[in-house]
Amino acid sequence: MTTQAITSAPTILTGLRVNSEFTLGNFLGALLPMVRLANTYNSKSQINIFVPDLHSIISDIDGELQQNLIRSLKYYLAAGLEVNPNVHFYRQSHVPAHSELCWILNCIASMGDLNRMTQYKDKSEGKESVNVGIFDYPVLMAADILLYDAVYVPVGEDQFQHIELTRRLAEKFNRKFGEIFTLPATPKAQAEFMHVDEGIRIRDLQNPEKKMSKSTAAENSKIMLSDDPTAVKKKIMSATTDSVGKIQYDMFNQPGISNLLQIEALVNDMPLQDVISTWAGETHYGDLKQKVAESVATMLETFQAKYREIDDSTVLGFFEEGEKYANEVANTKLHQVQKAFYLR
Ligand code: TRP
Repeated sequence: MTTQAITSAPTILTGLRVNSEFTLGNFLGALLPMVRLANTYNSKSQINIFVPDLHSIISDIDGELQQNLIRSLKYYLAAGLEVNPNVHFYRQSHVPAHSELCWILNCIASMGDLNRMTQYKDKSEGKESVNVGIFDYPVLMAADILLYDAVYVPVGEDQFQHIELTRRLAEKFNRKFGEIFTLPATPKAQAEFMHVDEGIRIRDLQNPEKKMSKSTAAENSKIMLSDDPTAVKKKIMSATTDSVGKIQYDMFNQPGISNLLQIEALVNDMPLQDVISTWAGETHYGDLKQKVAESVATMLETFQAKYREIDDSTVLGFFEEGEKYANEVANTKLHQVQKAFYLR
């Protein structure tokens, strides 16, 4: 028996990188767009949200992993992700078909293709020894996607090359064995589907030419989701601007002001263009800062209150339920693949 709902709407799937802490940049650029997408399509599409814990162990692991897995999912729930029978949460390591398909795909993937992956090049550069998991990362990612016939896979721009590789592997496989895999949409089609033309990049508050990063030492440069909302207001009020004296969107000459306009739009789920029009002709940077500070502080208060309400056992319950579904769907696909390889 299968519990998979019969639906012709394409599956949307994403893997949440397990992170100990999120910045406002991660939140507005990745988490919130996925939440909005899921909430828009959850009556028609299957929405698969999983934690790639097998991917996490390519780098040093510590006892925090379990807590971080739970925390990642809480972030999505606190950000407003609606739960319904079409939304599935699971841990990659709890669905063995992922590593099984990864092995089979390894036998059709080429070393040359994997050698060209920029993430692998970046992560291995200058290192004396590199583990095989880092090299093979994209093949496991292809398995994550192909097991579920996922079409839309919202990821950051740094992952587009992996999506292209997934498409190539699926094509190669289908050519040899028949139409077993669904190709995910091209990164360009994915971006159109999400209504973004480029990745969203929230800037460092003090040095707005740079991306906001959790590894920046200066506290005033970054906003973390766990920050106290009152402190956040102060950080925004002290953000670096410029001496142009006009509120307008010009990332090149006025990155600080443009960053604030961008944040204001994303927090309030408004088109950037509308926010730009609202402020056109204004000259008081302090007013804009005040408004953005209020918007972000209010959002964080709501987020943090919801976060505190969710307990670990609720999250674990969601995982267990999702894993029943995921194992069924993934095993059905895996068996087809195994048949093609004369393994069954
Ligand atoms: N590599 C993705 C990232 O770093 C996480 C990930 C793993 C993923 N497997 C995936 C994303 C499958 C989408 C689909 O963000």
